[in-house]
Amino acid sequence: MCGIVGYIGHREAWPIVLKGLKRLEYRGYDSAGISLINDHGLNIYKKVGKVQELENFSAGKNLSGTIGMGHTRWATHGIPSDRNSHPHTSNDGRLTIIHNGIIENYAVLKEELASRGHVFNSDTDTEVLIHLIEEIYKKENVDLLEAVRLALHQVSGAYAIVVMDEEQPNELIVARKGSPLVIGVGTGEYFIASDATPIIEYTKNVIYLNDNEIALVKRDELVIKRLDNVVQTPYIQELELKLEMLEKGGYEHFMLKEIFEQTRSIRDCLRGRIYANEGRVQLGGIKEYADKLKNIDRIIIVACGTSWHAGLVGEYLIEEYARIPVEVEYASEFRYRNPIITEKDIVIAISQSGETADTMAAIQMAKERGATIFGVCNVVGASIPRLTHAGVYTHAGPEIGVASTKAFTAQVTVLTLMAFYMAQQKGTLTQAKLVELLTELDHIPEKIEKALESNALIEKIAHKFKDSRNCLFLGRGSGFPVALEGALKLKEISYIHAEGYPAAEMKHGPIALIDEEMPVVVIATKNSSYEKVISNIQEVKARKGIVLAIVTEGDTEVRSMVDYCIEIPDASEAFLPLLATIPLQLLAYHIALLRGCNVDQPRNLAKSVTVE
Ligand code: M6R
Repeated sequence: MCGIVGYIGHREAWPIVLKGLKRLEYRGYDSAGISLINDHGLNIYKKVGKVQELENFSAGKNLSGTIGMGHTRWATHGIPSDRNSHPHTSNDGRLTIIHNGIIENYAVLKEELASRGHVFNSDTDTEVLIHLIEEIYKKENVDLLEAVRLALHQVSGAYAIVVMDEEQPNELIVARKGSPLVIGVGTGEYFIASDATPIIEYTKNVIYLNDNEIALVKRDELVIKRLDNVVQTPYIQELELKLEMLEKGGYEHFMLKEIFEQTRSIRDCLRGRIYANEGRVQLGGIKEYADKLKNIDRIIIVACGTSWHAGLVGEYLIEEYARIPVEVEYASEFRYRNPIITEKDIVIAISQSGETADTMAAIQMAKERGATIFGVCNVVGASIPRLTHAGVYTHAGPEIGVASTKAFTAQVTVLTLMAFYMAQQKGTLTQAKLVELLTELDHIPEKIEKALESNALIEKIAHKFKDSRNCLFLGRGSGFPVALEGALKLKEISYIHAEGYPAAEMKHGPIALIDEEMPVVVIATKNSSYEKVISNIQEVKARKGIVLAIVTEGDTEVRSMVDYCIEIPDASEAFLPLLATIPLQLLAYHIALLRGCNVDQPRNLAKSVTVE
């Protein structure tokens, strides 16, 4: 979490850094701060709250300077407050630092530094690092690059940092380990950021710093070294990102824009990957593993949050169509168990951001034990795609709303493609069946568009549910992960307590919660468990629960027994998760809006969870 931005060049740094922080605010919004060097020396402005608070607070102040850096915080060490906001300074106030990550051994270092006279002004781990750099800088009589390099040898944990020295207004030092850092290359200027979104406006040429690399960034010079002091040749890549992808495009919120983008994002995800007439799936990213897939005994899927729900859908699809056993694991649990992993296993790591710390750690562990790792990621060039052996990008485009929507359906689309691809390799589906399924998949974007037409109806239903304190989501088969995802969407943006449950499990406990005030959302589409779900609906109704059912268009049976109905287009069971998720996203959105919640930046959350 936390977003960092830096600039050195010929333009005014403040507007570039401020705008960059607004773009990165999805990474954390507990506080924001910027430091600049100008003729008056070092100027630091920081404020608890959103970037807008910082902007208001700094209005009319001295904001000039062509070198600067800023930070938007998701609090870990120390409460959100002005004093815990970044940038932090050295003991003498000459050096400043911004940091995304966690310095794990900060307590020991802090004690040692304090015993040598350092006085700290915050509760953060980051402040300890800048004091350590200062001490080495002074004692060792080295330049700032070397001081930072030596200091980083003494810390454990994760970091993407930028360091500035008031007395060296022509350089920034940056480094990364475990947290992302991109350098934008301009003419006589460089941009630094946690991801490319603050950079795209100025240049398309970027360098993704690797773990354990440190760089000296001057207006006309860039030197990248590994932490072991070996100089690296920068690898400049061209961004494919477009500026309009980062804007709301007329929608009130990014979340709503991203929900409505799903027709396009799923189409982009399918593009060039299916040849429906031939009954063939082509996944260039994993093609060199085609033979391995033929003989594979097991797949393990690791992910967190919404991505984990996509993994559960993947389990249904891969087991159903490719007949390969699948285990789906929370990355955070998997990494701390002693799981049995062999060289024959394929681990699929799913992550929108490609930066989730727990997922990365799970990958590292599985890799060390010899497994082959596939990534399913959205952010191109992020850490996870670089850690994996192979992978398939979801191509959903930047997802800015903290609640994941289009990334989920794109992940499910990729997993659907993977299931069919594996079936193709293993021969578990006939050519005719593949032709049939792929032809239908090709038309799913149109069905998504149709499902989105229920928006106005869902808004009306949201009025009925907006004051609920609890909500149960039920589904069976692949409808169960959809129920989990619906519950997560509702709780994370509306703060209504919501639980997803396998519909049949309700009678083993949650049924005790049901009364005339309890809304129960049921995925009751026409699939193999339709009749069973109807029985579960009866059980809820018998206890006076309020039922909202997601049904297949034209359904009259469920409609006759529930309080509210939302229709989705008919589709084969394989594609129901893609369609049934859409109304649940819209339901969460409208309820949150009616409750006055910040849908794009829900409290306590951040888009990319780079801490354990
Ligand atoms: O970037 P990732 O997909 O790895 O993120 C995983 C979760 O942090 C993420 O899905 C989170 O649960 C979202 N807030 C859900 O909307």
